[in-house]
Formats: sequence, C-alpha cells, structure tokens
Amino acid sequence: MIRLAPGECNYWVFCDVTPFKGKTITIKYDGEAAGLQKIYQDDKIAGYETLYKEKNRPQFHFTTQRGWINDPNGLVYFDGEYHLFYQHNPYEQDWENMHWGHAVSTDLVHWQQLPEALYPDELGTMFSGSAVIDYQNTAGYNKKDTPAMIALYTAASPDRQTQCMAYSLDKGRTWNKYEKNPVIDSKEKWNSMDTRDPRIIWYEPSGHWVMILNERDGHSIYTSSDLKDWTYQSHTSGFWECPELFELPVDGDQTNTRWVMYGASGTYMLGSFDGKTFTPESGKHYYTSGSCYAAQTFTNIPASDGRRIQIGWGRIGQKDMPFTGMMLLPTELSLRTTKDGVRLYSVPVKETEQLFTSVGKWNTLTAEDASAKLNEFKALDGLRIKTTIKLSHTTAAGLNLAGQDIISYDLNFNLLNGMFYSPQDMTSMELSADIYIDRTSIEVFCRWWSLFLLYGAFPGFF
Ligand code: FRU
Repeated sequence: MIRLAPGECNYWVFCDVTPFKGKTITIKYDGEAAGLQKIYQDDKIAGYETLYKEKNRPQFHFTTQRGWINDPNGLVYFDGEYHLFYQHNPYEQDWENMHWGHAVSTDLVHWQQLPEALYPDELGTMFSGSAVIDYQNTAGYNKKDTPAMIALYTAASPDRQTQCMAYSLDKGRTWNKYEKNPVIDSKEKWNSMDTRDPRIIWYEPSGHWVMILNERDGHSIYTSSDLKDWTYQSHTSGFWECPELFELPVDGDQTNTRWVMYGASGTYMLGSFDGKTFTPESGKHYYTSGSCYAAQTFTNIPASDGRRIQIGWGRIGQKDMPFTGMMLLPTELSLRTTKDGVRLYSVPVKETEQLFTSVGKWNTLTAEDASAKLNEFKALDGLRIKTTIKLSHTTAAGLNLAGQDIISYDLNFNLLNGMFYSPQDMTSMELSADIYIDRTSIEVFCRWWSLFLLYGAFPGFF
C-alpha cells in the first residue's frame, strides 16, 4: 500500500527503477489522481544535495535514505561484502508495506544503499528472515562457480504468516522467489497468526539445514536437506519474534562451547543443541537494554575471522526527517565466565575504531571537571568517550551531556541506567564505559578501563 499526497507533500520518497531498465512499468492506484500527477522520473532523488547532511541524520550509524526501517534481515557475508537487508517501508516514515531494503559494506561501517531486494507479492508483505550461502547446491540453484544466496523470509498477509524462500545469483542484487512458496504454513498447527522470522543455520555435524522460527510463544526448530522441505522437530517456549541460535566458545576455548538462543528483546538462554532440539541450561539472562531490538548475527563469516557479528535495530525516531529508525553499531558477541556463570558480551567490532580520532586524554578529573570537558566538545559531530568513574564519598555517579543522562549509576540499589548491575568485583567502586554519541543516539558499553578519553568523529563518513 502506498499513499500519495494529493496536495502539498511533507517529504519526497523514491523508487529506484534501475533493475527495470528497458522494461515497461504499469502503475495502478486507487487514490486521488492528483497524487499520481506528481510522480516523475529523474536520475537523482529529491533532496539529493542534502542527503546524509540533514540535521538529524545519524553520522556513523546506518540509516535508510527515505522511509521507515526496522529489523536487520538476511545478514550474510559473501565475496568480500557484508550484506545488510532490512525491514523497509520505502514510501513512508511509518511501519507498513514491508519490503527488504538492501545495503552492502566492505568494512561493516561504511554502507552503500542498493535498490530494494524483496517486494511484497500475492502472499503478503516481506517480513523478517535470514540468508545463507548454499555452497553444496542443496536447493539446486547454483550456477557454475556461483553458489546461490538463499533467503528465507516471512510473507505476511492479513490472514496468515507463512515462510517463503528466494534465491539470488548476483550477490543479492536481484532475487527469484521459489515458485512453490510458501515452504511452511503453520497457522493451523499453532492456532496463531504469529509464525514468523525464519533464521537459517547449517548444522555441520549432521550436514543439514536448521530453521529457528518463532511460533506463537517461543522458538521452534525445523530441519531440511534442501531449504524447501522442512520437518518440525522441537519448540522452546519463552521467546517472542526474531529468533537466533548460535554456538560460541566460552572464554575463547573452542573445546568448551554453549549454544545461545535469543529473541527480539535480547533476553537469552544458554544451553546445548543436537541439530534438532535446544536444551536450555541457564537463563533467561539479558545482555542489552534500551532501544536495541530484533538483533541478528551474520552467517558465512570466514573461519579465518571466526567472529559472531551482530547488528541490532535502533528503535529511534529522527525528528522532522524523511526517514525513521537506524541500525546500531555492529558488535562482536562472546561468552565469558563471570562470578554469576557464563554470560553473553557485546562489544563494538574493531572496524569501528577507524571512525574516531583522539582529541584528548585526562586522568583524575573531578566530576565537575569531567562535565566541563564534555561540554567543551559537545559541538563535535559524533563523540566517543572511554571513561572510568571512581566513586568516593557517594553512592551515585554518572555522566550527563547537555542535560541528557548518559550514565547513571546507583551503588545503593545497584542500578546502572535502570538495570540491576553487580560488578565482577563486588566491592569495586569503579565503573568503566565506552560511549558512542551520534546525532540522535547514545550507545553505552560498560567494561573495564582506567582513563578518560575523548574521541571526535572523522567528518564526512557514513
Ligand atoms: C519485529 C517484527 C518481526 C516481523 C517484522 C515486521 O520487529 O515484528 O517479528 O517480521 O518486525 O516488520
């Protein structure tokens, strides 16, 4: 569904028709014809001159040029490119009319937006899903030396949510949908409209595909040998939307691993997985809070790299902008042993280091001096702060920038930015944080350092 303004419009949106070059496009529209009259064709989008320079445009987070974005989808690394597909309404600032938008990057930090990857069809709009590379040609689409990139996604109609498949042989630029879609239709089995967000992994020990699918009240496991025929195996209740399942070493020890299962909010369970059933052992825990939602991790990261890289959706509105939402900084996930047991950690990927250059370093500042320093730099367009706060003669401490709380720590109630926080060393009076401030967001990562460092963002990157 697309609404067109019959009169004065608030903002212009566009449809990149590059893939249709040389073809005839028919536009059907039931609304007022005056809206149609305004459609025009051009090589540049309206607002091109100020694109990425708009007042409330995040400068080091991915945002879409126009429209609404939510969940990251189909995160996959292939042939030198990281692919970020995402829930996209290309034509409005609000959620509706979901497509899969598409962007690529060679370093996880600089992104290039490409034309839409998946458009709504007769089965519904394009809800969340994931992508894999079919090296063994299990689905039969590979061409000579080109393995197919295969996406499993949810098609959402007013009546049901079904799981569908599409493949691409040109690095995700154009997609062909499987003619026998849907591959799973489980509404009746679960007596629920909520069956969505297929996440695919290759389970090496038994050589089969695994789909983790949110169904009604938790995550189900399905298996397949060809990505088309799926067999239901098991269900873990206690999660909602956007499932994830992956294995990680504990403290880097490859002989001691746990499987992590999480849902859209980021709450997770740790356990074991045999290719068909996830057996929870501890949880639910959380590793993030705030505006992060529906985070997904990349598939097909080369073994020589071996990282579990995640991108989350930042549920953040951009005031008076022709776009809504953003992607948070890519992070590396790891499992570490803490005094409470094994827990999941999330730290910005090393590639983000290139975004900042050091502008100052101070030791032993008083709280007042630190605030004054911060305010000196608040005009910088993008700021990173690495800091250790030492509490003395007080039970509360924090950092505040232009009236906005960045860190607020209450040692009496053990609350850090509203969440229960008990340091690794229970008697510690120190709190360390790595803070990334963009135009409309602040991301705070708490860990252990001992300096107060300020970084200014390089101008002109996005
Ligand atoms: C999570 C979610 C998904 C769904 C998508 C639709 O934010 O509700 O479950 O697939 O958004 O846009």
